[in-house]
Amino acid sequence: MHLRAKPWATDWLAAHSDIVITQGRATEQIGQWQKLFAKAQPIHVEIGSGKGQFILGMALAHPEINYIGMEIQETAVAIAARKSFDQVGELPNLRYIYGNGNGVETYFEKTEVEKIYLNFSDPWPKTRHESRRLTYKTFLQSYEAVLPEHGEVEFKTDNRHLFEYSIVSFMNYGMRWATTDFTLDLHADEEKVIGNVETEYEQKFMAKGQPIYKIKAHF
Ligand SMILES: C[S@@+](CC[C@H](N)C(=O)[O-])C[C@H]1O[C@@H](n2cnc3c(N)ncnc32)[C@H](O)[C@@H]1O
Repeated sequence: MHLRAKPWATDWLAAHSDIVITQGRATEQIGQWQKLFAKAQPIHVEIGSGKGQFILGMALAHPEINYIGMEIQETAVAIAARKSFDQVGELPNLRYIYGNGNGVETYFEKTEVEKIYLNFSDPWPKTRHESRRLTYKTFLQSYEAVLPEHGEVEFKTDNRHLFEYSIVSFMNYGMRWATTDFTLDLHADEEKVIGNVETEYEQKFMAKGQPIYKIKAHF
């Protein structure tokens, strides 16, 4: 997803640097993320948070968790943060990083993040772009470096090829999952869909009648 630049984005981000942390500042924040939130409580990170519907929905539904939406596109993170700010003001448990998920271990120390979400990650279908897929082994190394032992990665996608690729990548990396933490049609599963917060892409693909694949895998 590439969004056309919004003329207000850079200024808005500069004026709200307490909510959106840029990549440079994120590396200085290592080991001290709890100070940016009202309460010290588990931190969950979504990598590739796009326009932010999921991370805002999760932050509202779970005040007992601190959420960070990480996004590489300035326009997307600005839209996400402004939308949530305009709708509900500054939430005590929601912050954003304008940065690359590839460097996640330079922003957080081991165990600083309790869980990672990947939602409808860009599929990068060409083999020569494999290393850009958010479930490529180098990304898994980065996630493992910030999560606790047996830390969890929760992944949803509409893309069958990326899903199959990711399962093989998780397996090759030695990650594990319970059969109950896996579905080829999330919205047809009455139990697994309880508490599900839909993303923008999820709603788009559901409207087309496409199944949503989901797996919760742990290191
Ligand atoms: C297809 S969109 C999905 C957005 C949202 N998660 C959803 O489900 O509606 C993928 C998003 O991931 C972001 N992204 C891709 N690679 C990234 C990376 N290495 N680090 C952070 N964000 C990334 C893209 O800019 C884009 O906004």
